[in-house]
Amino acid sequence: MNELAGKHIVLGLSGGVACYKAADLCRQLLREGATVQVVMTEAAEQFITPVTMQALSGRPVYGSQWDAREPNNMPHINLSREADAVLIAPCSADFVARLAQGRADELLSLLCLARPTERVPLLLAPAMNREMWAHPATQRNLAQVVQDGAVVLGVGHGDQACGETGDGRMLEPAELLEELVAFFTPKVLAGRKVLVTAGPTFEAIDPVRGITNHSSGKMGFAIARAAREAGAQVTLVAGPVHLPTPRWVHRIAVQSALQMLEAVEPRAQLASVFIATAAVADWRPATASGQKIKKDGSGQTPVLGFVENPDILARVASSEHALVGDLFCVGFAAESHDLLAHATAKRQRKGVPLLVGNIGPATFGQDDNALLLVDAHGHRELPRASKRVLAQQLVAEIARRLPPLPVAT
Ligand code: C5P
Repeated sequence: MNELAGKHIVLGLSGGVACYKAADLCRQLLREGATVQVVMTEAAEQFITPVTMQALSGRPVYGSQWDAREPNNMPHINLSREADAVLIAPCSADFVARLAQGRADELLSLLCLARPTERVPLLLAPAMNREMWAHPATQRNLAQVVQDGAVVLGVGHGDQACGETGDGRMLEPAELLEELVAFFTPKVLAGRKVLVTAGPTFEAIDPVRGITNHSSGKMGFAIARAAREAGAQVTLVAGPVHLPTPRWVHRIAVQSALQMLEAVEPRAQLASVFIATAAVADWRPATASGQKIKKDGSGQTPVLGFVENPDILARVASSEHALVGDLFCVGFAAESHDLLAHATAKRQRKGVPLLVGNIGPATFGQDDNALLLVDAHGHRELPRASKRVLAQQLVAEIARRLPPLPVAT
């Protein structure tokens, strides 16, 4: 999707088995529109060859500070000045120690030291055995490099190449990509707590059946991800959907509208933004049978009675917290026609400052969509694009409507 268009990344590999993941990472960075300059330590070349990394990145790999290809013979200066970020993946325990000491006896640590720190961030994807990771020396060195301005993108937990299990795995390429994109995203929601509902609800008829709808949850999940990338602390209350939870988003899984309400209400009181994308079932069976309703062969069908579900959005929007302006509520409307008229009416009925209209059949299950934003001043269209892009645009629209954060005293 070209999430990194125009970005030039120096991808540094230090020695570790996770070098094999760096090959895929390199491809994924290019796929997202970045240009990648690979720099490898001697140890890294024990794990993967420069030939592979050159073929994948489309550029000769650098490995020595004495590389005569550079006219001025200063690869450490030239490479570090061009970069939008230096990403060390994998970053070995030894390399962290080198950074902590400010060593400069080989190209990769040299260019990290020589980079203009205020302009070229240093991002680390550690990869090592769990004992090495937990060792006080490593933790001490990491604390030092963070204090010196480096950003640790986190480590994974799980099976390690050595056969042990624990912390210290390098994050997967897709996770690192997500972290990198988040790193470059302007933090327009820094200091805000955002609560999002997403997906359908499932209203049980009996233990094996229920009423639900075709909401995929994709829009709400994309919004949760975009909000966290914009610096918010995000809680996502999701109905039954099989989507991966965006990184650093706290997900609460619910089934029914009543469970969604129970999860949302107390959390909304702590939030500064509430975005209701969930397709909440309008009704639920008046009584859910404790046992499976069996057909008895008589041809008689069960008679189901229904009761209306509470309107979660309207409830939250009419709470004191929202009425005094401490909670900005955003509703969604899935319509089949007359979008502007319906969205305008719904905004007033729900009592929310911003209502986002979309055409139901054109969004359910799709990867792209088009949105119509309606607020007290009028409306604005966000033309057809991927839900990912729309979520980013919507987050920016919400951010500029929020009251300024209170000044810390
Ligand atoms: O009334 P309608 O279902 O069209 O309203 C849609 C908006 O209200 C969405 O933002 C949806 O998440 C929210 N909603 C809700 N609780 C309901 C019904 C809808 O929060 N019971």
